[in-house]
Amino acid sequence: MAGTAGSVKNMGDMVVRRVQSFEEWRVAVRGLIASGVPPAAVQWQSPANDGDLFSGAMEEANDDAPSDAPALRLPRQLVELLECAACYSAVDRWAFLYQVLWRWQRGEHDVISPADTDGARLHGMVKAVHREEHDMHAYVRFRERKEADNDDAPRFVAWFEPTHEVLPQVARHFARRMGGVSWMIATPTATMLWDGATLHAGPALLKGAAEIDDDGEALWLTYYRSIFNPARVNAGLLRSHIPSRFWKNLPEGAIVPAMITGATNGERRTGQTATVGQRSGATTIPIRPERALPQRDSLTTLQQCRRCALWQHATQAVPGSGPQPASIMLLGEQPGDQEDLAGKPFIGPAGAVLQQAMAEAKLPRNSVYLTNAVKHFKWEPRGKRRLHKTPAQREIIACHAWLEDELEHVQPEVIVALGSTALKSLLQDSTATLQAMLGTPFQHQGRWVIAVYHPSYVLRAPDEASRRQAYAVMVEGLRQAIKLLEDGQHNRVS
Ligand code: URA
Repeated sequence: MAGTAGSVKNMGDMVVRRVQSFEEWRVAVRGLIASGVPPAAVQWQSPANDGDLFSGAMEEANDDAPSDAPALRLPRQLVELLECAACYSAVDRWAFLYQVLWRWQRGEHDVISPADTDGARLHGMVKAVHREEHDMHAYVRFRERKEADNDDAPRFVAWFEPTHEVLPQVARHFARRMGGVSWMIATPTATMLWDGATLHAGPALLKGAAEIDDDGEALWLTYYRSIFNPARVNAGLLRSHIPSRFWKNLPEGAIVPAMITGATNGERRTGQTATVGQRSGATTIPIRPERALPQRDSLTTLQQCRRCALWQHATQAVPGSGPQPASIMLLGEQPGDQEDLAGKPFIGPAGAVLQQAMAEAKLPRNSVYLTNAVKHFKWEPRGKRRLHKTPAQREIIACHAWLEDELEHVQPEVIVALGSTALKSLLQDSTATLQAMLGTPFQHQGRWVIAVYHPSYVLRAPDEASRRQAYAVMVEGLRQAIKLLEDGQHNRVS
């Protein structure tokens, strides 16, 4: 048979194994361990390193690897180390991993200790792979296609040259992050395509396939130039933060050398006060903030908002959704994990509770405007999960401008404040408490406001009785909102 992956040939006393993925290596080592074949007796080949030497032999190779060999019982930690190290690009990686496994099976458990020579190499490989994943998350730049040539073409395309084989896991990361938009990441050895729902692995493409004109890139470069402060540039630090091999594929890579040259040739002065040159010795250069920083306090677009620090850890800002104008506005606290990924409010578990309460109150979702007091997801890591963290007062205040903007456009007659953060934001009063206002409509700046529990509070209630009670308050609040609206219309007509 042809030299398929995972095939085997005995060459004298040498056993040849041909693998190209961790899964194939796993199957192969099961048989080798079961037959007691030591590492020195195995010749490992993969498409990248078999060259011509054995290619003729491989054409005739028999697939006689004992595929029914028993599964190996290995600790999870070892499997994870091996699987991760298998992404490390080295010609001898399969041989090395087999050596580690062989030693482990013989009871040499130190083989995964960083103090052991093989263990140190194993950990070094794992570290390099993690670093590569991190770099790829940070330095992949998607370019948007102007118009799709056909319906199947991905909307965003990126080219990247990873040192190690991290494309599959990085693609899974972007699939989680970028929601329903389609994209493709091309590398010199493989491509991954996300069609908005499923990941597809594909063959390598030429770099040119991923080089497209992108209007957004021009905007990004303009922004990059405008935030570049020649007085503060530190070329060494810049290079150490972004390794030089990434620069060539970063859009800003084309303009950074010129900007650094400009900075060293006199443009530094443009960011300095007139008196700096007169100061002697090592000193902090005073830069007038209004000259050194881009404008921070004017409203640009929600996605560009940097009024507080929450944007740094969020996927995107989540704007409100619904008709404008709308008679009723429902105001929540902040997007949760799922809302952050999808860019839409109330689509996660809290949204499901709210949806149910709205249905019970006979308030159609598409008739109301749904939004949050804070537009970026604030969270803290807990294991692999991102756990909601209540926004601080300064973050509520920073985001209030966006709420005002929405009020202006939506012009609601009734606002239902879901929970205490919504109430504090609406009233701009950090001392406002939900208990004091719960369920009783009041007027604020010419509009009706009714405060009810937040749907997450219903979800977190410690027992069935309190859950029912909190839920009933929510439904009743929504019913009152409808009633206030009907009464208002009635009064206006009469
Ligand atoms: N909780 C909120 O307050 N808003 C959302 O959008 C989701 C959960």
